[in-house]
Amino acid sequence: MTTEVLKNDLAINGGPKVVQDFEATADHFGLKVGAEEFLALADTWGYSPEAQEKIREIVEEEDPYVNPQLTRYYNPRPSRVAMMETYAREAFGVNYALGVNSGTSALMAAYTACGVGPGTEVIVPAYTFYASAAAVVATKGIPVIAEINDTYTIDPEDVERKITPRTKAIVPVHMVGVCADMDAIMDIARRHDLMVIEDNAQCCGGTYKGKYLGTIGDMGCFSISSYKAVGAGEAGLVLTDDEWLYIRAASQHDTAACWRPDRFAEERRPGELFAGQNYRMSEMEGAVNLVQLKGMKDQAKRYNTAMRRVLNGLESFPRTKPRRSNDIEGDLGYNLILVADSGESAGQFAEALKAEGVPAGARGTRSSRDWHIYKYWEQILEQKTSTSVGCPYTCPYYDSPLPDYSPDMCAQSVELFERAIFISVNQWWTEGDCAKVAAAINKVGAIYG
Ligand SMILES: Cc1ncc(COP(=O)(O)O)c(C=O)c1O
Repeated sequence: MTTEVLKNDLAINGGPKVVQDFEATADHFGLKVGAEEFLALADTWGYSPEAQEKIREIVEEEDPYVNPQLTRYYNPRPSRVAMMETYAREAFGVNYALGVNSGTSALMAAYTACGVGPGTEVIVPAYTFYASAAAVVATKGIPVIAEINDTYTIDPEDVERKITPRTKAIVPVHMVGVCADMDAIMDIARRHDLMVIEDNAQCCGGTYKGKYLGTIGDMGCFSISSYKAVGAGEAGLVLTDDEWLYIRAASQHDTAACWRPDRFAEERRPGELFAGQNYRMSEMEGAVNLVQLKGMKDQAKRYNTAMRRVLNGLESFPRTKPRRSNDIEGDLGYNLILVADSGESAGQFAEALKAEGVPAGARGTRSSRDWHIYKYWEQILEQKTSTSVGCPYTCPYYDSPLPDYSPDMCAQSVELFERAIFISVNQWWTEGDCAKVAAAINKVGAIYG
């Protein structure tokens, strides 16, 4: 039985409205997370008072359980993510900056933008966090692993040897605060018509010949998570000067297409719209990372100064030398790497340094499982994938034998990794602190160097 209704009873035709109001109010939404709860959390994260103030500002403005939520889009307030991107564009001097939710998603957005996909190869260094290679597989490309050289960054000679007709991109990684040889990489890329995607997760604020790392290749990717020199929480950043690469990266990072000037408009150019993912950055991250990025330049200066002060105080030793640098003034410098003549010597040197009160470490020959060196990337070496079909390794578009994956394939890199002595530099070390650290290294060097 249906209620008898005349057409004119409908509200649309001037009849009385059935739902005048709701009894449920914001108070019924249950647990309400307010400024104090967020700030108690922020306190445990160790944010600076300035960052905490930013968090207070947005949480006090916005109740996350009532509109507008802490999201960038459909939010009447100025977006913190957008502010962070504007700041990043200006600070790095690039045309486009895209905030994302991790360094891995920054890489996946950039790889996708550059055309990595079925049938393509991407050259990554043997010494990098495994995400540089995992993101290639996630975007359906095949990672090709190249040696590092005595700078502890990708070896341009090996890169050139590993180029094939399937190579799409080269990924120099500025590991542990040291810059890769960007002139050599860019030269190779231009000669072979390849894309360069800098993985700058570990060197934010570092430069190469006066230019910010992450702005030299076609695209630059950053992790700006809590574990990095700049960043907090979980976040990433993609930089580029190229509008089309930006659009493609944006498409991958937000398949809902909220980023488009007109979200539901027709595709402006083939390749703009495709089924991407959701890597959008939250407003809270945007607010905090804006503060973090503002400190980048000064922080880089402090680290680099401290690192060079220690280096300048070193004597020379017959068997242990500082790592060769591609640009000592550009290296971020939170690590000072000495290279011993064997893994065993590196271990002894580092242990003796620690006993002298210097924060040092070496993997030595006892190196344990660590996803920063390819020989432990079993997911890749053994081509482990999420289904038994084995895509992309079994992809019919990949018409070549797979790279010869094995734990010994980049012996030079493993040896360099084992011979490295990593000294953690503190950006706040005074001139006197640096002199003491140099004196400790000289003392140990006199016996083990
Ligand atoms: C060199 C390198 N690339 C990529 C990543 C991935 O960044 P995230 O952990 O933010 O996804 C990291 C993180 O440790 C990294 O060190």
